[in-house]
Parts: sequence; C-alpha cells; structure tokens
Amino acid sequence: MIIRKIACIGAGYVGGPTMSVIAQKNPNIQVTVVDLNQERIDAWNDSDLINLPIYEPGLDAVVAEARGRNLFFSTDVNKAIDEADMIFISVNTPTKTYGKGKGQAADLKYIELCARQIASISKSDKIVVEKSTLPVRTAEALKNILENTGNGVNFNILSNPEFLAEGTAIADLHNPDRVLIGGEDAESINALVSLYEAWVPKERILRTNLWSSELAKLVANAFLAQRVSSINAISELCEVTGANVDEVSRAIGQDSRIGAKFLKSSVGFGGSCFQKDILNLVYIARSYNLKEVADYWEQVIILNDHQKSRFAEKIIQTMYNTVNGKKIAFLGWAFKKDTNDTRESPAMYVADHLLDEEASIVVYDPKVSAEQIYRDLDSLGTRSIEENRRLLKVFNDPLDMIQDAHAIAVLTEWDEFRGYDWKLIKNKMKRPSFVFDGRGLLDSSLMNSLNFTYYSIGSNVK
Ligand code: UDX
Ligand code: ADP
Repeated sequence: MIIRKIACIGAGYVGGPTMSVIAQKNPNIQVTVVDLNQERIDAWNDSDLINLPIYEPGLDAVVAEARGRNLFFSTDVNKAIDEADMIFISVNTPTKTYGKGKGQAADLKYIELCARQIASISKSDKIVVEKSTLPVRTAEALKNILENTGNGVNFNILSNPEFLAEGTAIADLHNPDRVLIGGEDAESINALVSLYEAWVPKERILRTNLWSSELAKLVANAFLAQRVSSINAISELCEVTGANVDEVSRAIGQDSRIGAKFLKSSVGFGGSCFQKDILNLVYIARSYNLKEVADYWEQVIILNDHQKSRFAEKIIQTMYNTVNGKKIAFLGWAFKKDTNDTRESPAMYVADHLLDEEASIVVYDPKVSAEQIYRDLDSLGTRSIEENRRLLKVFNDPLDMIQDAHAIAVLTEWDEFRGYDWKLIKNKMKRPSFVFDGRGLLDSSLMNSLNFTYYSIGSNVK
C-alpha cells in the first residue's frame, strides 16, 4: 500500500509539530493539517515564522523547509479527508466537565465528531490513525462509528500515540526513543511504519495490538508523573529533616536501576497530559471495580495538588503569615520552560491561592501573552474578570516588574532567569527581600550571599 496523501485533523501542540516533521522527512508525501480554528490555521500559514501558533525550539526551521512544498495548513477539513490515503486524528481530548465521569473521564466528543465526518466524506479506503491520547478501547468505538455510518468503504484503524514533550518536541520527533504502532491489519501497519522508517531506525519502531498501544501511552505518562510526585513527596520530608532534595535526587539517580531523569522536584507538574491521563487511568480502573489500582494512581494527583498549595502556603507563612497588599513577582507562567503552553500550569493555581489572600501579583513570562494569563485565571472561576485584572498585572520587562516587590516566586525554569543581574534585582526590591524558587533553578549560594531570604523547594529557608 503506497501512501501519497496524508491528512491530519487538529493543528495543535501534537498535530502541528508531528506533521511538520513527517512532511520534512517524507518530501514525496503531501501532508495537509486541518483545523476548524481559522485563526490557528492563519498563524500556521503566516509568512513570518515568529507568528506560528506554537512556540517550540526548532519548529520554525522545519516549517520553513516543508511548508508550501509538501506541507499545507488549511480549514478545508472535508477536502483533506476526501483526498487522503491516511488520516491522523489529533484533536483535543480534555477531561469531561459534565455528566458521567465528570472531572475524570476523557471527553470524546471531538473524536466522535471527527469519526462521523470521516465516515460521511470518505469515498475510498482509508487508514485512520489515532494520535490523540485516548482511553483504552477508543479504537473500537471509532471502528463502530466508521463502519456503521460510512459509505461502505474500508477503514483500518491504528493507534500511534505521540510521546513528544513540549519544549523539546522537534528533538523528540527527530530522535524518538521509540515509535509505537498498535493495530491488526499488517498492510496498514506497514504503511505507517514506512513513513517513520524515513528517519527512525527499524528497531525503535514497536508493533503491538491496538489495546496495548492505547494503554501504553497512558501508562508512560502515569509513570513519569509518578516519579515527579514521588520526588515532590520527598521534598517536603527534606524540608523538615534538613536534607536537600537535589542531593537526594543525585544520590538515588546514580543508581542505574532508578536512573537520573525526571527526578527534579518542583512546584508540581502541569501540562495537558499528565493529570488528564492519570485521571483517565483512574476512571478506567474504577469502572472495572479495581479500587486499589484506582486509589494508587489517584494519589499521584493528590500529591501534585498538595505540592502546589504547599508552595503558596510556604510563601504566606514565610512572609509573616500575611501577603495582603504585598507585591509578589512571578517569574514564569508556562507549565515548563521553552513552551508557551499554560495548560494545567502550577502558576495559575499558586496565583489563585495568593489572590485569595489578597496579594498583589505581577507576572512576567518570556513567551506567554497577557491575554492567555488572564484567560487561565478567569477559567478557574474564583473571582470576577474585573477583580482578576485589578489584582494581577502582566509585565513585558522583568526589571520593571520587580521594582518595589516584596517577593519573587519562580514558577517556570526559563534559563534566562538564572542569568539575571540578581544584585540589581536585590536593590530594586523591598527589604527583607524574599525569593521562593519553585523550580530549584537559582544558585542558592549566590542568593544567600546577596542576603535574599531564599527558599528553594525541598530545602530549608535560608
Ligand atoms: C509529557 C510526556 O513527557 C510526553 O512523553 C507526553 O507525550 C506528553 O506529556 P509534557 O507534558 O510536554 O510531556 O512535558 P514533561 O517534560 O513531561 O513535563 C511535564 C511536567 O512535569 C512539567 O510541568 C514539568 O515541569 C514537570 N517535571 C518534569 C518536574 O516537575 N520534574 C521533572 O523532573 C520533570
Ligand atoms: P493537543 O495538545 O492534543 O494537540 P490542542 O488543543 O493544541 O491539543 O489541539 C487540538 C486542535 O484540534 C485544536 O486546534 C482544535 O481546534 C482542533 N479540533 C478539534 N476538533 C476538531 C474537528 N472536529 N475538526 C478539526 N479540528 C478540530
């Protein structure tokens, strides 16, 4: 089976970068990424690459190479479906906010809409590839919809979960640890394998059955998130015992059985995947009456929520139990460095907590817009839109922001924060000058030598 044209439905954080790399590495295949969101598609087509809707190091170069050659972005979903031999579904699957499974199950309405659209438009056989993270056995639902509402054409369904991490998406796509393909039909699997073989060594392309592939994606994210919650649990213990969490991480990470990655204690994990996927796992386990399994994984989320509120409480407690009217400067709003994505970012929850105590918050993030920051805060629904804008201000210049601040809180580990002139910053702040480092980013001996009251997550206040 030869693939000439590919369509990808959904031009977001997954669909956009993944298809850009597939197009870059397969110049003879036409790749069209479609989305209902006109503004997003316009941004993908912007001649000025700085305006791409997603900030991801290296993405601009890949788009520059492939766009207009064999990579296209469009809102004409029907045309792309009609022409494609292979269709990737890469739409969002947020946690349900209503009805059964509210707050836990994945909302599959976007997936179902896609399936119905594919079924009604297709006039020739198609391979349909699940790229979004989905609950186990979604492929079966997809198959049912496609077969029962289609025009009698053949659909082969594959699961091909994406493991890229934001901020390193292009490097992860260029050099993946593995590519996972789940499915039943050997010919369809081979067709998808051949796309990846353009640049991924054969031995890294794994084939499994559909259900293993779907579950493996949830489990990979659950294991990664569990490591973060595990080290964050230890960070609290370090603070009361006088141990230092970075030293503990280094000591255990050198054990090759444990490994050094994903042991950085933080104000909590964020991002669109970890929480959603664990909630999903918990929901699936509960729906099969596996109470112990569900409780076990749920604890990863409980600990993460605890870590975010513990950080906010630490700020309040250290500042003499009141932050009322005090200016607290946030360095960073994104859920991690090198991305403009703020989904589930700990920053918004910490801000919300401090605003409840009537702090005055100012924010600087090198890549997140003021509109996005207010959208995030408003989405929590804690206070009115006017109140959020009165209590929180966004700055484009970190030094302007810091003027007369009582405290600085580091919420994202952007490299630039470390390189700031901290002596100058100290001179601009009120005294005593507090720094709360939620990412263990700054040099503690420098902070101490400059007479900051410095707290880094997982070690004592100095
Ligand atoms: C994750 C998975 O890594 C990726 O494979 C999957 O496809 C999508 O979900 P992502 O959410 O983009 O990727 O970023 P990741 O690097 O995994 O970080 C997630 C969160 O954990 C961030 O908030 C990060 O700051 C936090 N984290 C990560 C820590 O707090 N400590 C660590 O040691 C590592
Ligand atoms: P992810 O991080 O999973 O990529 P995003 O929210 O960044 O999630 O992107 C998903 C994209 O899918 C959004 O841009 C949304 O507009 C698009 N989308 C959702 N449903 C459809 C649909 N039925 N047809 C086309 N695009 C869709």
